[in-house]
Amino acid sequence: MNCLLSICDIKEDVSYIIDLANKIKSGEVEDTPLEGKTLAMIFQKSSTRTRVSFDVGMYQLGGRAIFLSSNDLQMGRGEPISDTAKVLSRFVDGIMIRAIEHDDVIELAKYSDIPVISGLTNLEHPCQALADMLTIKEHFGDFKDKKLCFVGDGNNVCNSLLLITSLLGMDMSVACPKGYEPNKEILKIAEGYADENSTEITVTDDINIALNDVDIVYTDVWVSMGDEAQKTQREMDLKPYQVNSELMSLANEDAIFMHCLPAIRGQEVTSDVIDGPHSVVFDEAENRLHAQKAILYYYLKD
Ligand code: CP
Ligand code: NVA
Repeated sequence: MNCLLSICDIKEDVSYIIDLANKIKSGEVEDTPLEGKTLAMIFQKSSTRTRVSFDVGMYQLGGRAIFLSSNDLQMGRGEPISDTAKVLSRFVDGIMIRAIEHDDVIELAKYSDIPVISGLTNLEHPCQALADMLTIKEHFGDFKDKKLCFVGDGNNVCNSLLLITSLLGMDMSVACPKGYEPNKEILKIAEGYADENSTEITVTDDINIALNDVDIVYTDVWVSMGDEAQKTQREMDLKPYQVNSELMSLANEDAIFMHCLPAIRGQEVTSDVIDGPHSVVFDEAENRLHAQKAILYYYLKD
């Protein structure tokens, strides 16, 4: 079954989905293409943007969404993921899942007869990366010759950004302390894409190197959902990587600031940056809805 668990799954169609999101945003797509369709949404972790944008997105496309907290599902009491996948496949047209473990989403997809869309795991956040690229395209008009620097923890959001920027022909750098580098396998795949597209990926603990000639400065929380036990250590290690006005001044003068949200002001980013003139974080959040609708259209339309 055609699923979206990783940006790698849409390697050939990334640009198509971003263009579709742009068309949907500007009202160029028919009104209710998903009439009669139902999406099951399984959440093992908290969410504001992903939950609301999928729910509203399905409604606006003529379908409906069912919110399923893993605490309320029998899966939370030990029913196998494989049985859950087979049963849901008899009721609904697609499954969106936000899971603790990426392997559980792979398992769900393996036993589903319907598309499975990841709404974040410990490894990737593909829907976020698509919305981010829509935001970058709107702002700069093109991806060519643009460079994104991800500052902080080389986490799930960073992993998906590495894959999508290299596919779209952008340069990307990651500024992170030693021990907080992005996933090695993802980095290897992204480097392969970057080679094919003649772009560059740099992973370094040196902020000055990473921020050279950067158009987009991106950060995310230091303590992702599931990392709470390491909170104190993470806050100590990542402190030098706070995105503040001094760090922003190392990027190009017209650089934008991005963050997937939720943000913690005073930790990974200061208020003057996230609430300042270079920040596009609320356009980015709005674009989750338009990108989600493109993803739903792509996977669920007959
Ligand atoms: N960016 C993002 O996925 O936000 P939520 O956790 O609120 O869904
Ligand atoms: N890296 C964060 C992203 C939240 C949208 C987390 O996984 O908690």
